[in-house]
Amino acid sequence: MKAVTISLFGFLLVIAAAIISFCDGNSKVLCIGSEGQALLTFKQDLIDRSNRLSSWVEGEDCCEWHGVFCNSLTGHVKELHLGLLSTSPDAYAPAAEWDAYFRSKLGGKINPSLVDLKHLSFLDLSNNEFGGLAIPEFIGSMKSLTYLNLSWANFVGAIPHNLGNLSKLHYLDLGINSLFEAKTLQWVSGLSSLQYLGLSLANLSKATDWLQATHNLPSLVELHLSGCSLNNGPSPISVNYTSLAVLDLSQNMLSSVTWIFNLRSLVSIDLSSSGVEGMIPSGFQNMSSLKFLDLSWNSFSSSSTLNWLSDLNQLQFLSLNSVGLQGNFSSAIGNLSSLTHLDFSNNQLEIEPKYLESLCNMREMDLSNNTINHEVSEIIESLSRCSLDRLESLNIAFNKLSGHLPNQLGQFKTLAYLYLNRNSISGPIPFSIGELSSLKVLDISYNRLNATLPQILGQLGNLEHLDVSNNMLEGNISETHFSNLTILRSFWASNNMLTFIPNPSWIPPFHCESIGLGNWRLGRQFPQWLQFQRNMYSLDISHAGISGVIPTWFWNLSTSFEYLNLSHNQLVGEFSYLPISWIADLSSNLFTGPLPQAIFSDLGDLFLSKNFFSGSLFNFLCNSSNNLKVLNILHVESNLLSGEIPDCWENMPMLEVLNLGNNIIKPS
Ligand SMILES: *[C@@H]1O[C@H](CO)[C@@H](O)[C@H](O)[C@H]1NC(C)=O
Ligand SMILES: *[C@@H]1O[C@H](CO)[C@@H](O)[C@H](O)[C@H]1NC(C)=O
Ligand SMILES: *[C@@H]1O[C@H](CO)[C@@H](O)[C@H](O)[C@H]1NC(C)=O
Ligand SMILES: *[C@@H]1O[C@H](CO)[C@@H](O)[C@H](O)[C@H]1NC(C)=O
Ligand SMILES: *[C@@H]1O[C@H](CO)[C@@H](O)[C@H](O)[C@H]1NC(C)=O
Ligand SMILES: *[C@@H]1O[C@H](CO)[C@@H](O)[C@H](O)[C@H]1NC(C)=O
Ligand SMILES: *[C@@H]1O[C@H](CO)[C@@H](O)[C@H](O)[C@H]1NC(C)=O
Ligand SMILES: *[C@@H]1O[C@H](CO)[C@@H](O)[C@H](O)[C@H]1NC(C)=O
Ligand SMILES: *[C@@H]1O[C@H](CO)[C@@H](O)[C@H](O)[C@H]1NC(C)=O
Ligand SMILES: *[C@@H]1O[C@H](CO)[C@@H](O)[C@H](O)[C@H]1NC(C)=O
Ligand SMILES: *[C@@H]1O[C@H](CO)[C@@H](O)[C@H](O)[C@H]1NC(C)=O
Ligand SMILES: *[C@@H]1O[C@H](CO)[C@@H](O)[C@H](O)[C@H]1NC(C)=O
Repeated sequence: MKAVTISLFGFLLVIAAAIISFCDGNSKVLCIGSEGQALLTFKQDLIDRSNRLSSWVEGEDCCEWHGVFCNSLTGHVKELHLGLLSTSPDAYAPAAEWDAYFRSKLGGKINPSLVDLKHLSFLDLSNNEFGGLAIPEFIGSMKSLTYLNLSWANFVGAIPHNLGNLSKLHYLDLGINSLFEAKTLQWVSGLSSLQYLGLSLANLSKATDWLQATHNLPSLVELHLSGCSLNNGPSPISVNYTSLAVLDLSQNMLSSVTWIFNLRSLVSIDLSSSGVEGMIPSGFQNMSSLKFLDLSWNSFSSSSTLNWLSDLNQLQFLSLNSVGLQGNFSSAIGNLSSLTHLDFSNNQLEIEPKYLESLCNMREMDLSNNTINHEVSEIIESLSRCSLDRLESLNIAFNKLSGHLPNQLGQFKTLAYLYLNRNSISGPIPFSIGELSSLKVLDISYNRLNATLPQILGQLGNLEHLDVSNNMLEGNISETHFSNLTILRSFWASNNMLTFIPNPSWIPPFHCESIGLGNWRLGRQFPQWLQFQRNMYSLDISHAGISGVIPTWFWNLSTSFEYLNLSHNQLVGEFSYLPISWIADLSSNLFTGPLPQAIFSDLGDLFLSKNFFSGSLFNFLCNSSNNLKVLNILHVESNLLSGEIPDCWENMPMLEVLNLGNNIIKPS
């Protein structure tokens, strides 16, 4: 009892002490004046278009400035966090978002005043844009640094060897710049506290001693040398990385990697695209701590059985994408129950579905482009045994799957990406598909699915990309099919037997960038609902039974279509210009008037055949407002064109296919 009282008393003392030290924090030390001055001088040379450093104002406490951290006892600046934290927008993001991202990068020069921050231990300038600056030599004299991150910042040129003087460094990340090392990495070998070395994309082709220089670093945990032009198989020294856990040698030209197999502490190996050839080395077998193994994009021989995989029972990530394997995948895969990511796409592999039953942690599985010849239901059933509430992405496209989609499909509540395209799956799309509430991408194109498109698809409020094209779906599509598809960005459903004639006042809930309804019945009138689509870059409404003129709003849907297919309708009218880059097919309509005077300059393929275009070819081909530099294919046959064949072919250096037939043109 007494003991309890005493320890309770001790506990209260700790709390009291904590409160006192918290109050102490109010009388905090201010920034050292000379260090604030050094920071302001440093700021003067920077370009800061988004005003990230607006809090850096003369006369104010520099310890309060954005990205600046001081020692709370001495007031010395100890950390500068000026790396841009936000990651780049996704590829489809609007230009304004990309612009804002680039604006938020710091640029300009790096003033040597930083050297005056004698107590600086942490310097992060990563993910900025130093526009081809060399890494400043003076950084090598900032002896207090334990963390230096200059990655992703567009530094170029030679790596200053005096960085080897920074003997306190734990983290050195110079990766993803355009650096090179002319002779040797020997300077690294003195960094005896180094835990992290990142030199990815630095050209180390001349530094043939990279392995000798790094392998004795006693604390090294992570070594990132991706894309370093490492070539000659490292000399067969006995490597001694005692603590190395993460090794990234991807994108190199290594021939042999057998020295790796002594490194039993490795947890992660990335050898993707590293030029390794031959059998998949069974040496990995004894690396029982491995959690991450990426061997993709190498050329291994097909005979390898991979039975050794069964010893790697900690493995979470395994990629054998594009490694040239053939035959039956080893049953050993069934022992890898920790796997969360499995990728053996782009081989010629078959897998027994039952091996998938015990992969209970699977989140992403890519088996696409193989020779899997099973009923799709066998695979779905096996996966449903234990990965029902984890699987996020499943890709079995480009295989030989057959049979019907099973109802169990609806049970994968976390599934966001499902690719089953290019198989021979038949029968109806099950109604349970409407239960896949996390689904963002559904691609079941190029199969033999029949019956109708279930209305319940319209409930999938997270769907962004839907591709059901090239099946045998039939029937009437209603507005309900789209009722909740508010963020749909692409809808491809060409080449089925579907009809969609919505109420003329229908306003779609989505704003698609890409729509494919080729071979649909869309009614005689030009589809009015298209006018609510903004930023379209691709549209196919060919063979759709549409007649009449193209509404004037149509050309406002896009600043420039990359792909537009209006062919095989009964559209009438004239064109003065075509805002289309890449491919335009207006053939087999009833268009009249002269050929368009102005088309976008990057038009590649233009199909205008089987219409009633008239007049001469001269203005179209030779008029300077038409820039035809990349025009590759031009079909204008079967029109009413007249006059002579003009001679200005030098305007079209890329032209490969030209059909002028069945007009009233005379040779010149
Ligand atoms: C360096 O910065 C980059 C980009 O900000 C980041 O991805 C990387 O993890 C950092 N390196 C280290 C060792 O912290
Ligand atoms: C710093 O490094 C350079 C180049 O590696 C070397 O010549 C110089 O002696 C080093 N200076 C100190 C103080 O260690
Ligand atoms: C690396 O540098 C060597 C010459 O030092 C050069 O031949 C090679 O093309 C460079 N590699 C890359 C990827 O730039
Ligand atoms: C390997 O490293 C250990 C510890 O750092 C050291 O004692 C040993 O001599 C090294 N061996 C070789 C071959 O370099
Ligand atoms: C794996 O380890 C065992 C026992 O330590 C050894 O006999 C075998 O040769 C090793 N295999 C490889 C491929 O290194
Ligand atoms: C693959 O396995 C199947 C059935 O288990 C068998 O019939 C076939 O011969 C095997 N193929 C190869 C190349 O081993
Ligand atoms: C585990 O691996 C062994 C040896 O490769 C194999 O015989 C067995 O079938 C595997 N277990 C499962 C569940 O697949
Ligand atoms: C399928 O994989 C092979 C290599 O096995 C590759 O050449 C081909 O381009 C891939 N096909 C697709 C559609 O990705
Ligand atoms: C769909 O195709 C199957 C054959 O795979 C056939 O038995 C069935 O009648 C077809 N259903 C419809 C509605 O066409
Ligand atoms: C529509 O989608 C939203 C967002 O995913 C979801 O919360 C809602 O339940 C869906 N409504 C219907 C009727 O399916
Ligand atoms: C589709 O709708 C039309 C009328 O809009 C109707 O005549 C036709 O029978 C319907 N077809 C099917 C398969 O429901
Ligand atoms: C097309 O856009 C232009 C410029 O934004 C606008 O002036 C014009 O009224 C629009 N035309 C139609 C038919 O919406």
